[in-house]
Parts: sequence; structure tokens; C-alpha cells
Amino acid sequence: MATIHLERRDDVIRLTLARPAVRNAFDDTMIGELLGWAREAAADQRARAVVITGEGPSFCAGADLAWMERMRDYDQARNLADASAVADLFHTLATLPMPVIAAAHGAALGGGAGLLAVSDLVVAERGAQFGFTEARLGILPAVIAPYVVRRIGLAAARGLFLTARRLDAAEAWRLGLVDELTDADTLQARTEAILDEVLQGAPSAQRATKALLARIEPLPVQAVRDATAAAIAAQRVSDEGQEGLRAFFERRPPAWRRGGPDA
Ligand code: COA
Repeated sequence: MATIHLERRDDVIRLTLARPAVRNAFDDTMIGELLGWAREAAADQRARAVVITGEGPSFCAGADLAWMERMRDYDQARNLADASAVADLFHTLATLPMPVIAAAHGAALGGGAGLLAVSDLVVAERGAQFGFTEARLGILPAVIAPYVVRRIGLAAARGLFLTARRLDAAEAWRLGLVDELTDADTLQARTEAILDEVLQGAPSAQRATKALLARIEPLPVQAVRDATAAAIAAQRVSDEGQEGLRAFFERRPPAWRRGGPDA
């Protein structure tokens, strides 16, 4: 596959996000590849754990903003279909039956932080940055919102979504987006150590645990997932959505910015 790398050893699936030139931002190709893989993994009775990492300088810069910007050229049906595919992807990842471990370095922003929210165990390097930067780009954290709220709670999510500020690893850990911090040079070793701990548990017990937790703290139902897809589909083709995306690539502040610290 072009945008992700997969390795399967001892019934552990290692997924590497592999668009390093754009910091592993996901466009329609990558979403399709991830969704295809996630559906297969969901049905894989033998897989005991999934480990997600990113290639290059950053874990994941979220949705590909060029792909979002291009939505202005698509009709509403295609725009909505693309947004629904992302909602399906996050739902499929959030409902993977086996433990999912994510290891974040560099940046995990927008949908990249959303990937952490759908993971069961998140380890990050102390120098990493996080954030739900969407509002500063004229868009909104939509399909990831239910999973972020489920992980860090409404109060924390509300503030982060509305300010769209970036946060450092210590704050991400304090808020519960990240479970453990480590130095950059020990990230890989800590990830393997967490995997070792997970592999001490019985696979059926872990699968039953995930299913039970999903009943105690439910995942979003289809109607909510549809609403999140509709919200991002509408906002990214709006005037402010298009202005924010354009401003990102032109490396300038968007028209609504009233001064203050850099985004
Ligand atoms: N979508 C598309 N392209 C992106 C991207 C995204 N989400 N994030 C980064 N890129 C591209 C940049 O445009 C740049 O392209 P170029 O080399 O053609 O100029 C390239 O990736 C590298 O980005 P750069 O900012 O130079 O790298 P960096 O390592 O200094 O910083 C980030 C990496 C992720 C911290 C920074 O790119 C960033 O803040 N991106 C915005 C991410 C974001 O807000 N995502 C939320 C999306 S909803």
C-alpha cells in the first residue's frame, strides 16, 4: 500500500502511517487504505494487538488540508461521502476488538490526535505537540469529536476545540489524551514494553473487556456519526473554511485573525 505500511509478526499488527512528506496527513487515498485495513483487522480473530506509529518527523498532522480545500470543486454528495468515509474509519478503529497502542512523536494534531483518542494505550515523547487546531483553520473537529470527548471528557474537549490551541505533552498527559510520557530515544522501547504487558493478558479477556467498556461508555451511534460527517462537509466548503485552508498553504494568518500569539 502507498500510504501505510503493515507488518504482522506473532499475531501483532504494526501499522505505520507513511506520508512523511506531509507529516502523515490523511487524504482520500490514505483514508481508503486505512479503512480497508481496519475492516480486515476488525475481522481478524487471531490478531492480539495493534501498534500504530508514524514515519518521519511527526506522528500525524491530521486531515490533509489540500484534500479538504479541494472539496470546493466536488459536489455535495461527494463531499459528504468523503466525510462519511472518515467517520467510518474512526468508528472502525474505535471498535477494533483487540488492544490498540499508539506511539506519538513530533506532532499529533486534529485527526492525528483523534487517532490517539481511539487508541487504548497512548505513549508519547515528551517533546511532542498536540492540539485540535481545526477552528484556527476555519473548520471543526467533527468526526473525531465523540472519541475525544469519550477519552478526555466534555470540559477539556470544549476548551481545546474552541481555542484550537496547541498543547505540550505534559498537558496532553494531564488531560488524559496521552497515558504515558517518555524521552524521544526511549519511545520505541517503551512502546514495546507496553506491548509486552498487553501480551500478558488473555486475548479473549481483552476482547471481552473492550466490548464491555463500549457498553459502559458507548461509542457514537450511526446518527451521531452522520451528523459529524455532515458538519465537516459543510464547514470545509464554507467561506471561512476555504479561507482558513488557503491561509495555511499561503503561510499567512486567516482574515478573521485579530492579532495575538501565533497559531
Ligand atoms: N495537510 C496537508 N499538508 C500538511 C499538513 C496537513 N495537515 N500538515 C503539514 N503539511 C505539509 C506542509 O504544508 C509542508 O508541505 P511543503 O513541504 O510542501 O511546504 C509539509 O507538510 C511539512 O510541513 P512543515 O510545517 O514544514 O513541517 P514541520 O515538521 O515543521 O511541522 C507540523 C509539522 C505538523 C507541526 C505542521 O506542519 C503543522 O502544524 N501542520 C498543521 C497540522 C494541523 O493543524 N492539522 C489539523 C488538520 S484538521
